[in-house]
Amino acid sequence: MGKAWGGRFEGGTDPRVERFTESISFDARLAEVDIRGSIAHATMLAEVGLLTAAEAQSIAAALKEIGQEIAAGKMEHRIDLEDIHMHVESALIARLGDVGRKLHTGRSRNDQVATDLKLYVRQTLDAVDALLADVQGAFVERCELDEGVILPGYTHLQRAQPVLAAHYWLAYCEKFQRDRERLADCRKRVQISPLGAAALAGSSLPINRHRSAELLGFDAPAANSLDVSSDRDFLIEFVFDLSLIAAHLSTWAEEWILWSTTEFGFLKLPDAYTTGSSIMPQKRNPDVLELTRGKAARVMADVSQLLILVKGLPLAYNRDLQEDKVALFDAIDTIVACLELAPAVVAGARLNRERIAARLEEGFLDATTLMEYLILRGVPMRTGHETVGKLVRLCESRGCKLADLPLAELQSACPQIEADVSKVLGTTNAINAFQSYGSTGRAQVAEQVEAWRKRLQISDH
Ligand code: ARG
Repeated sequence: MGKAWGGRFEGGTDPRVERFTESISFDARLAEVDIRGSIAHATMLAEVGLLTAAEAQSIAAALKEIGQEIAAGKMEHRIDLEDIHMHVESALIARLGDVGRKLHTGRSRNDQVATDLKLYVRQTLDAVDALLADVQGAFVERCELDEGVILPGYTHLQRAQPVLAAHYWLAYCEKFQRDRERLADCRKRVQISPLGAAALAGSSLPINRHRSAELLGFDAPAANSLDVSSDRDFLIEFVFDLSLIAAHLSTWAEEWILWSTTEFGFLKLPDAYTTGSSIMPQKRNPDVLELTRGKAARVMADVSQLLILVKGLPLAYNRDLQEDKVALFDAIDTIVACLELAPAVVAGARLNRERIAARLEEGFLDATTLMEYLILRGVPMRTGHETVGKLVRLCESRGCKLADLPLAELQSACPQIEADVSKVLGTTNAINAFQSYGSTGRAQVAEQVEAWRKRLQISDH
């Protein structure tokens, strides 16, 4: 069979050009959405009288069969057929002859590929959202497992203030929640149908774009054919959303890589998710976390690739856009692989409570709480800061903790200090002192854990 666009050409295409321009090697995975889009299109064509009902039915039936064959791996890829759209259409024509030749009425591959991409992004977006909920669920479940455990919190990777383990876990839940909200927002724009925008200008045929949009579960047809046939904003947004998920995963991965070192000794990673060394018999390497961190680079690069791809493209469709799928699929595959492994790593790791507790009084995690104690007794904040700073210096010179300083010495540094200062000194007391909304205070964190359990519909046990 000749090319679908062969009419105005005299000679054949150079095989090197066919190899250069094909996309079947990477767009074959659009087969399922392509067929769904075509069935909806054919249904609409019959409703407006551009196909008979019998024609539309035989097209739909044949497309379903073709879909099953493709799913069973029975379709041979031919670079002379360029892309998945031509593969499906030529299989249809091989089955139905002239009836198959009518399917492409009132559309072009330009709106077809945009429609396919939106359908594909929509289902992937929903799958990624569910995977994010799984990761959140794993963190929320940990809150119970690690109830009461206090960890050092860091700024500049220097010990800063004490934090409940659950506060750490819920911090990641918040980040992934924003990722989910971003996906939901992106979905609104994915929900606008390109189908029937045709090549760029729409059609002189009486197609019903509202109807094909509705049949495919879109919210509305796009109002400007010139815009939507070339629009890849939704795809770039989606990959950006994925890149921010990658950033969050890489922060988590890096933190846990550090925490599982001998130097930190906070965390033991689950055996099934660590690997050994080919030369050093003692090694347990956090490869899953390292690759989660490393693969984030790919997703971030994919966003840049897409932005650079569309930069300066004139309206409307340009063949450059075929390359969008390379970056899109890479970003999807990378993020899905990371998200599929993350919940098991989160759930399977164990905090080394003794090691953590043994060093918890190092680093003056209670210093800020002591300063706030002074503020509550009328000391101006800056003066309190200075006073506690001097006390820390004194402790360092003696190799002791703030809680070790005799009351008289504390009082000579600051007369407002009373015997009840002991209630804010030491890491546990410092934790107990927190009360602001969103803080690491015990009541605050317990409330948040409850809220997350509800939000994620995790049952009590
Ligand atoms: N394979 C093409 C793509 O992915 C489909 C659209 C082709 N359109 C065209 N006018 N050649 O972009």
